This record gives sequence, structure tokens and C-alpha cells, in this order.
Amino acid sequence: MDHKEGAYKVRDIGLAGEGRKKIEWAESRMPVMMELRKKYEDTKPLKGYKIAGCLHVTKETAVLIETLRAAGAQISWSGCNPLSTQDDIAAALAENGTEIYAWHGQSTDEFYWSIERTLDMKPNLTLDDGADLIFTVHNKFPELAKDIIGGTEETTTGVHRLRAMAADGKLIYPVIAVNDAETKWDFDNVYGTGQSSLDGILRATSTLFAGKNFVVAGHGHCGTGCAKRASGTGSSVIITEVKATAALKGALEGYQVLPMKEAAKIGDIFITATGVKDVITKEHFEVMKDGAIVCNTGHYDCEIDIDALEEMSVSKRTVRPNNEEYTLKDGRRIYLLAQGRLVNLAAAEGHPSEVMDMSFANQFMSQIRLVDEDKAGNKLDPTVYDIPEDQDQYIAGIKLRTLGYSIDTLTPEQEKYLNDYAAGT
Ligand code: ADE
Repeated sequence: MDHKEGAYKVRDIGLAGEGRKKIEWAESRMPVMMELRKKYEDTKPLKGYKIAGCLHVTKETAVLIETLRAAGAQISWSGCNPLSTQDDIAAALAENGTEIYAWHGQSTDEFYWSIERTLDMKPNLTLDDGADLIFTVHNKFPELAKDIIGGTEETTTGVHRLRAMAADGKLIYPVIAVNDAETKWDFDNVYGTGQSSLDGILRATSTLFAGKNFVVAGHGHCGTGCAKRASGTGSSVIITEVKATAALKGALEGYQVLPMKEAAKIGDIFITATGVKDVITKEHFEVMKDGAIVCNTGHYDCEIDIDALEEMSVSKRTVRPNNEEYTLKDGRRIYLLAQGRLVNLAAAEGHPSEVMDMSFANQFMSQIRLVDEDKAGNKLDPTVYDIPEDQDQYIAGIKLRTLGYSIDTLTPEQEKYLNDYAAGT
């Protein structure tokens, strides 16, 4: 389609005022982003570069978008999940001149239509959460890659797939793995997912956690966060895993570790955080208790076999927003939250601003790094790149300072000692 800068398709532009207040609230909790905005708004290092983005449209993402624009970039944006767009935020962004195609409750066709519209501008960079934009370029518009100097990827699932593509020689432009920064996954994935997932479950159910059996499928970073927070509520936490070390960590935290087949019989609340498909399936629904609550916080909605649940049910009704009651043939009821999509973003507002501050600082600095390489005439190989350690330390340093903490520095003697392989007892 013809490209028009500043074009938009959102649910209701009249919601912009509400959205703007929320964005200002996020800004007040994102000091690292605000410091980066201040640092680059005069020099505008991204001027002349076009960025297509595909990432949940939230108040925190709005801070990222407006920081990229302040640094000179031209932006075109879509959401990365049909249920995660906050319509007031999309409206506020559109009103402020961001080209955006995003609304809550998109169909699959509308979702891909929106991604494709962001490509009409012929971007120089891509910014993803889940890699749907990168895959759309690769699968449908590979000719656009000639103008693309690189991309950045936010999430574990996306990075996993991009590494697999790179290993097969199928990646056609370089991508920075934002997810793998220590200041991203040790904070966002753990504390962000933990808090916002429980927030989503609460908003959708208003249930009491204390005294419940809370089953967390997957004890990676995201599952660790969910389990940590659930255990603090008085729930008994049960971990299911396929990886021995991850299961062992759960056991040593004091959680029960069970195969899903066993956990399914005793769980009251289930959350999947694995990144793989078919984690909760027919055989598990068959043995679940009446009233069990089931949800997912992984990127894609394939972790729970919803088709099986549909087939096993005689009726279905919405009992609360984001809460579907399925009645099975034997009368048991199972409650599926947010249609099996990311419960933290679909039923709540996603991770709190304070953690997204660091994740998005990594996004922002990675986009700047790709542009710097381009300006220096360096053509990066089409593979997946890690975040440099000094970027992590820089971001963590600003975060610590703005939180009011200070830390020690090594003395020259300590530095020497650290590298002294002759030193002993
Ligand atoms: N992913 C998880 N939480 C998020 C948020 N608040 N904004 C954007 N992406 C997110």
C-alpha cells in the first residue's frame, strides 16, 4: 500500500487523553529511558533512519517509541499480540504523530495486515517481540532486506527461533538478542512476569491464592518469577519441568516437583511459562479438579490445547472479562483465562514500568548500536548478536543511581588480585 507518514488505524482516537496520562505515569517510573531521551534528543543519532516495530502497545512501549522518535527515528508500529494492545495508549501515540496500526481484539488477518502496513515505509531497522515482523520480512517481503541494516528481538521465544534460523543459514540480516541481556532477562522475565502474571490472574478471577495448589509449568526465568510470587501469597507451588537443572532449582526452593500428569490432579491454578506447545492437553483436563483455573504467560497461545478443551466441553460462557468457563461432559468446570494468550498482557497491563525501563533501554541502545555500525560503514553478518557486557553495566548503573543506591569500586590492588593466577593461600 502507499505509505503515508503519521497514518494510523486504532480503535478510538478519542481515548488519547486517557492514554497520555498513563504514558506520563510510565515516564515517571522509567528514569533510565528518560535519561537516554535527554542524552540523545539534541544530537538525534537516529535521524534519517526508519524503524518498523512490532511489540505490545502499552504505556511502557509508548515511552520507548517516543524516545526513539526524540532521537530522530521515523517510526511505524504494530502490536505483537492480538489481545495485548491498550487502545488508549495506541490512540495517544497516534494523536502525537506516531504511525501505528493496533487495536485490542484483532483477528489473525488484522494482526498480519497491521504488521504489513508497518513495512510499507520500507524500514531500515526492525524491532520485534516474538519475531513475527522479522518472519514476515523473511517469508513474504525478502526484497525489503536490502534496506534493512538490522533488527532487535525482545523475547526468549523470538531469540530461540532466530538462533535456529541463523544456525540454518536462513537469517538474512543481523539481529541483536535484547532478551539475553542480564538487565533484561534477570529482571523483566523474573520480576516482571512474576508480578504481572499474578496480576492478570487476579484481575480475571479475583480468587484467593492462599491455601491453593499453584502449578507453574516451566521453571526458566519466567516460571521462576511466577513461582516466587505465588509462593509469597500462601499458595503451595508445584513445578513441572523437562530440564533436570531447572527442576532441581525448584525443588531446592522448596516447591513440589511433579510431572504434569500428576500435578493436573491436584492443581487449583495452572500457569504455563515454557515456550513450547502442548503443555496442558486433553489427558490433563481429563483429571483436573472442578473449578481449576488455567492460563498461559508464554509468548504464543499454543501451550494449552484449547481445541481439546473445546471438544471436551458441552458448553462455554464468559463469566468475567478474560475468564471463560468450560463445562465438561461430566459436569466439571474449567476456567480458561485470556483465551490462553499471555495472561499478564491480555488480562492486566503487562510488566510494571520499572522493569520495562531496563528492557527498553536495551532495545533503544541496540537500535543506536546498529545505526552506529551503519554510519561507520560496517556491514554486520546476518546472525544473532549478544548485548555487550558494558551496556548491561551502564544500564544497571543508571538504574541503581536513580533508585538511590550506591556501590563500591574495586581498588587497583583488588583488580590486580582478581587476575593474579599466582596468588594462593
Ligand atoms: N512485555 C511484558 N510487559 C510489557 C509491557 N508492559 N510493555 C511492553 N511489553 C511487555
